[in-house]
Amino acid sequence: MNVIVFASRKGGSGKSTLTAHLAAHVNKASRPCLLIDADPQGSLTLWHKLRGTNEPPLRTATRSVGEIIASAKRDGIEWVFIDTPPNLSAVVEDAIRNATMVIIPARPGVFDVNAVQDTIQTCRANRKPYAIVLNGAPALRGEGESRIVTIARDALAKFKAPVWGGQITNRADLLMALGEGQGAREYAAEGRAAYEINRLWAAIERSVKAIRGAGSAGGAMHKQAA
Ligand SMILES: Nc1ncnc2c1ncn2[C@@H]1O[C@H](COP(=O)(O)OP(=O)(O)O)[C@@H](O)[C@H]1O
Ligand SMILES: [Mg+2]
Repeated sequence: MNVIVFASRKGGSGKSTLTAHLAAHVNKASRPCLLIDADPQGSLTLWHKLRGTNEPPLRTATRSVGEIIASAKRDGIEWVFIDTPPNLSAVVEDAIRNATMVIIPARPGVFDVNAVQDTIQTCRANRKPYAIVLNGAPALRGEGESRIVTIARDALAKFKAPVWGGQITNRADLLMALGEGQGAREYAAEGRAAYEINRLWAAIERSVKAIRGAGSAGGAMHKQAA
């Protein structure tokens, strides 16, 4: 079983958005997933209610996630996705301690890029593999990324932080889908939002394979925190 934790001290970076879209993308009968909403704000829980199918199932956590994870393992869950509050409270630490890999979403702005440092420190202190995902980025122009994304990458390189090579663009489709309780592919299978979520998922899968020792670390986006 793999546990993917979405964490960052900054509100609005895209933790709940990416958790919902990835879980909807990954969950199927042959690949059972579980959502854990550890944020009292309950964004993921709201999306799950709008979805109305209880697929994937959702549990809420207030202080710790260990027991939920243990019972998910017994139930044969393959992927657990944990959405966390925008702080470094006990439940966030506990989620990170239980993670296979931590995804740190960040918008490509100077405040946002600076705010990832605490979360990086927590990952390093717990020796957890992690990667930053640039979210809410301006659309690519041709194949080129926008200048603000390049500036964000340069700043993150100074922290020696691993960053996913792709981006999740700021897209109304991602919001519209959430409002319907859907993921990007369910909302518009051929859309660009679905394409980007699929690419992000492929990168997470590659990293997790490498973390598990079942794939080469060469193409993986994460760094093993040391
Ligand atoms: N890539 C994106 N494109 C469009 N809207 C986005 C994107 N990422 C996040 N949002 C929107 O921005 C707001 C904050 O995102 P959210 O996922 O709630 O952040 P967090 O959980 O980190 O606080 C939400 O309204 C969300 O739907
Ligand atoms: Mg949230």
